[in-house]
Amino acid sequence: MLSRLAVGLGAALASFVTFSHAECAREGLLAAADSYLAAQTSGSIADLKLSATNFTYQQNNKKADIKTGVLVQPLKIDLNRSTADTVACASYTMLISSTGSKPYVISTQIRHADNDTNAISMIDSIVATTGALFFNAKQTLSYIQKENWGTLDESQRANRTELKRVGDAYLDMWTDAKAADSIPWGTDCERVEGSALTKPCGASLPRGGSAMNNGNRRYVIDETVGSVDVLCSFDSLGSLPDSHEIRLEGGKVKYVHTVTVMS
Ligand SMILES: *[C@@H]1O[C@H](CO)[C@@H](O)[C@H](O)[C@H]1NC(C)=O
Ligand SMILES: *[C@@H]1O[C@H](CO)[C@@H](O)[C@H](O)[C@H]1NC(C)=O
Ligand SMILES: *[C@@H]1O[C@H](CO)[C@@H](O)[C@H](O)[C@H]1NC(C)=O
Ligand SMILES: *[C@@H]1O[C@H](CO)[C@@H](O)[C@H](O)[C@H]1NC(C)=O
Repeated sequence: MLSRLAVGLGAALASFVTFSHAECAREGLLAAADSYLAAQTSGSIADLKLSATNFTYQQNNKKADIKTGVLVQPLKIDLNRSTADTVACASYTMLISSTGSKPYVISTQIRHADNDTNAISMIDSIVATTGALFFNAKQTLSYIQKENWGTLDESQRANRTELKRVGDAYLDMWTDAKAADSIPWGTDCERVEGSALTKPCGASLPRGGSAMNNGNRRYVIDETVGSVDVLCSFDSLGSLPDSHEIRLEGGKVKYVHTVTVMS
């Protein structure tokens, strides 16, 4: 009787535990992203819920010790914005710090294994500072703070497949001459590459020419704001640590941001 009760209880507990991670909650993803921003502000990783069994820190496409990375440097953050991917259980955060002794623009993807947003399994950052492509944090800030990344009405949202397709097509432009024309450019879209603004963003595009595909692509896709962020190795121009983030409004490209490290 007692043992049957214990078995029943165990099964109930097991199903509860499974159920609790049956989905990856947007709130949990954004809470983890906020904890990351708090860590970067204070320069302390003590309050980050890093997984004890499965945690990787990566900076500029290289595995590194989080204790010696940019996160242990306190930064005054001028602007931050996060998106959430409940299918991949990952978030994307961009932050700009323009007024400290060393300015930064940082693109970070945070991943969670087993849909458990209470444990961070990966922090994957592209960290740009002076010397990065078209780097000027104040200029980048001036463009990006004018943008509207508000939640889109359902009727204005592209689906996940389409967002990924556009992110991939963008990165394929350097190797595939046909990629540029497969992208639904908006007439009033803006491209901010480092601090270089191009408007409309469908102007002066690469049409193939490189034999090296941009590789090691990692995606965070958020249909609610129409965004795809892809971290990659920009191999078409020489293995550069890179982030490309694109927003689609009503199926058309509205914003493109790139962060590209030159080393
Ligand atoms: C994780 O959550 C997503 C929805 O957020 C769901 O589609 C997926 O099946 C879940 N995966 C696991 C392993 O539970
Ligand atoms: C991030 O940005 C939001 C506004 O979008 C702001 O309320 C919050 O304080 C910022 N967080 C940090 C750590 O700067
Ligand atoms: C470790 O975390 C990564 C995500 O960062 C995930 O893809 C992988 O499956 C996890 N491994 C284990 C053994 O849980
Ligand atoms: C996703 O959007 C694309 C482009 O609008 C469309 O062709 C495709 O049918 C959509 N896929 C699904 C599953 O709705």
